[in-house]
Amino acid sequence: MQALPIFLKLKGKRVVVVGGGTPAARKAEMALRSGAIVDVYCRELGEDFRSIADNPNLRHARPVEAADMDGATLVWCATEDDTVDRRAHALAKAAGVTVNVADRPELCDFTMASILDRSPLVVAIGTEGASPILGRMLKARLETEIPAGYGRLAAFVGERREALEHATKSSAERRRFWERLLEGPIAEMVLAGQDGAAASAFDAEIATLDMGGKATHQGEVYLVGAGPGDPDLLTFRALRLMQRADVVLYDRLVSDEIINLVRRDAERIFVGKQRNNHAVPQDEISQMLVDLAKQGKRVLRIKGGDPFIFGRGGEEIELLAENNVPFQVVPGVTAASGCSAYAGIPLTHRDHAQACLFVTAHGKDGQIDTDWEAVLRPNQTVAIYMGLALLDSLMKAFIARGADPHTPAAVVDNGTRANQRVVTGTIATLAEKASAAALRGPTIIIVGSVVSLHDKLDWFTGRKAASVAQKSE
Ligand SMILES: C[S@@+](CC[C@H](N)C(=O)[O-])C[C@H]1O[C@@H](n2cnc3c(N)ncnc32)[C@H](O)[C@@H]1O
Repeated sequence: MQALPIFLKLKGKRVVVVGGGTPAARKAEMALRSGAIVDVYCRELGEDFRSIADNPNLRHARPVEAADMDGATLVWCATEDDTVDRRAHALAKAAGVTVNVADRPELCDFTMASILDRSPLVVAIGTEGASPILGRMLKARLETEIPAGYGRLAAFVGERREALEHATKSSAERRRFWERLLEGPIAEMVLAGQDGAAASAFDAEIATLDMGGKATHQGEVYLVGAGPGDPDLLTFRALRLMQRADVVLYDRLVSDEIINLVRRDAERIFVGKQRNNHAVPQDEISQMLVDLAKQGKRVLRIKGGDPFIFGRGGEEIELLAENNVPFQVVPGVTAASGCSAYAGIPLTHRDHAQACLFVTAHGKDGQIDTDWEAVLRPNQTVAIYMGLALLDSLMKAFIARGADPHTPAAVVDNGTRANQRVVTGTIATLAEKASAAALRGPTIIIVGSVVSLHDKLDWFTGRKAASVAQKSE
């Protein structure tokens, strides 16, 4: 190690920035964020200073002179002019101030880290000037690994250290408590923004410790939307909770690739419908979630698409709420959105549709049970879930109720997955074409003139073909 990583307190300290362009603005911003008083020396402040120009801790003066270095804690030279930077560097050294010259590692007393800011949690990555780009790439990876809420979590813990000190006898006991808390539902509540509930749960744990008892190990439920199939469409939070779960309840719509991302040793319970097999009834699933959580388990209930869009997610968590089981809901990309994007069919478009309606085609006795007045409004796209079995009668119903038979329509089968197929036609021809294609589902139907854009905007079919060709080479 050639340099010592330290966190320097700059609050109220004077920092000098020499330069008025973009690199200087970035340094000034950073110093202001850590509470420094920043003196910028240059003829004119550039555009990039605009967002910080009104900050009371930022002061702008003429080009730098020797006396300006006196009393500074740090100096950044970032004029983008080598001669001016070298002169400023010499002035800083003469005044005995620690100095950094942008892009001149040999003139730097310190180098800047790539910073992941989840204050009060801060991760700084340094490469000793060897490759700042590598540092930035690593930072980008950490951005995806460390949830944005970790800063709030660190603050939550920091604010309660004293309370725990009073309630425990030894540092070992405190360490175990914090390890358990950071792995458990209280931390999850903070990360999910449920700060009030987290504070109450913490107080309850502390009260138990005060009475000489052992803290309870409470279970929790994560209701997670898995999106329509492509694992890359999972949210960061979904993936993190999938890796934490002790047990997972899943159904047919969740693709194998996604299930394989769940923690390997988690128990898997299939609750969906399979051919010749009945699905577990909804109330039984809800009860299972309650029972498993009450056994202290972290239960992942993962559903295709978004749990709150034709997903019965609301029903599942009602029972949890009634039983005071902590839970959180993670939205997913719903089929209409994912499938239309991967089919190159924008759901809205300035020239075609100013609204989009999501409906389900569940019908009684083959009759479509929907609000036809809403469905047939002009200048909108209609995305129909669960409609394949009723496709023929659905399309006929559109025409019978006055829709133009030439209205473009599409079926997206297995949308976003490697085996995605898109069949396009009009509402007069779609059913026949889909039947000839022997689609197997899941499928979503899209009706509206936006479908006419598919031929031009279809990007995914080409990409799939390229990747198949590459594999076979
Ligand atoms: C019970 S609904 C669940 C919807 C889900 N909650 C969502 O937000 O996408 C099931 C229907 O979603 C649609 N669907 C789900 N995944 C799909 C996919 N990969 N491709 C096409 N349609 C899909 C189909 O219409 C399927 O019948």
